Amino acid sequence: MQIESLTVKNFRAFKDVTIKDIPRFCVFIGANGSGKTTLFDVFGFLRDCLVHNVRNALQRRGGFSEVISRGREQESIEFEIKFRMEIGGVDRLVTYVLNIITVKSKPIVKREILRYKRGRHGSPFHFLDFRKGKGYAIVNEDDFNKEDEELEREEQELDAQDILAIKGLGQFQRFKAASAFRQLIEKWHVSDFHISEARGSKDSGHAEHLSVSGDNLPLVANYIFENHRKSFDRIIERMKSRVPGIENVKAIPMENGELILKFQDDSFDRPFIDKYVSDGTIKMFAYLILLYDPQPHPLLCVEEPENQLYPSLLLELAEDFEVYARNGGQVFVSTHSPDFLNAVDIDNIFWLEKTSGFTSVHRANQNPLLVRLVDEGDQPGWLWKEKRFKGADPN
Ligand SMILES: Nc1ncnc2c1ncn2[C@@H]1O[C@H](COP(=O)(O)OP(=O)(O)O)[C@@H](O)[C@H]1O
Ligand SMILES: [Mg+2]
Repeated sequence: MQIESLTVKNFRAFKDVTIKDIPRFCVFIGANGSGKTTLFDVFGFLRDCLVHNVRNALQRRGGFSEVISRGREQESIEFEIKFRMEIGGVDRLVTYVLNIITVKSKPIVKREILRYKRGRHGSPFHFLDFRKGKGYAIVNEDDFNKEDEELEREEQELDAQDILAIKGLGQFQRFKAASAFRQLIEKWHVSDFHISEARGSKDSGHAEHLSVSGDNLPLVANYIFENHRKSFDRIIERMKSRVPGIENVKAIPMENGELILKFQDDSFDRPFIDKYVSDGTIKMFAYLILLYDPQPHPLLCVEEPENQLYPSLLLELAEDFEVYARNGGQVFVSTHSPDFLNAVDIDNIFWLEKTSGFTSVHRANQNPLLVRLVDEGDQPGWLWKEKRFKGADPN
């Protein structure tokens, strides 16, 4: 599954933005306040809508009046996401549409649609279509290959007008597109890693994926070590080549049952507990645990992965992200680091510009001058430093 395009209207600084032909690995640059966090939060917002409801998702962000773009209070907040997936053996480009309004200061889903084309030609067909809590979904979507297949509509009324229809229907495998999209949003992951939270011993327990803050790092390291030894060995190989002296990393149980990370240095017999290991070492290990996860998240967003890492390591880190994307997880990264950008292909670079209070998104490979300079051997990070990405820098 891959997100191919995204349109966002009236969501904070995104008054009307479309990003097309989104690659599996994307890197976003832009000045402070240009909208990088807001872009990633589109998926956080959708997840809160799905897991809770629209009112809750808005409240967590200050309410409708804070979330809707300034000056657009009478309009609706709109998302349109196109993604590719296989349904009934056919590769489909599915579109999800969500429009949110307020009526008498109550948030309401004005429209929610899932649509895709039945054949190569013709207009897209609505497999799910809801307005203000009422609508239908097609139940025999799976065997929907022939042009004139009989369609079975199931009319539904939701419990409230601010609940997503994909929340209920997405539980059922027979609603292919709805359940796939629900999973994408539910399993979306943003990494907001804090070294201070990753350090220290942790209550033992089961954790397969690194948490948002990284506070379960010893548990996940232990899980991968116990269950996916090849992945773990790969992680250790990378640690060895990137952090001088590192020989091994182990999650060790303490007397009170908690787990702690110990780092073996090849110059000494006794390993160091994580408290006495450098910030960069912990961070690199955490990224490797995140990126060599045997079951990647469908969509992973990471902000400024460069902090605390030695500049030359960023090249390898960018490669790790690419590998992750190739293995099935789509990756969105934001960065302020020219060294990191140097490691990224021009096709994967976007920059955000704020003009008159609102964000626009540009793509590096759509800029003929940038393409020519990179072709001639310039590196994207240095071009950025030279202010060749017009509008990416604070004035
Ligand atoms: N409702 C809104 N309408 C217009 N702009 C908004 C709204 N809410 C927030 N913003 C703008 O978005 C900015 C935050 O953008 P953010 O995504 O945090 O930027 P970045 O992560 O690139 O630093 C705020 O500084 C503000 O200017
Ligand atoms: Mg930010």
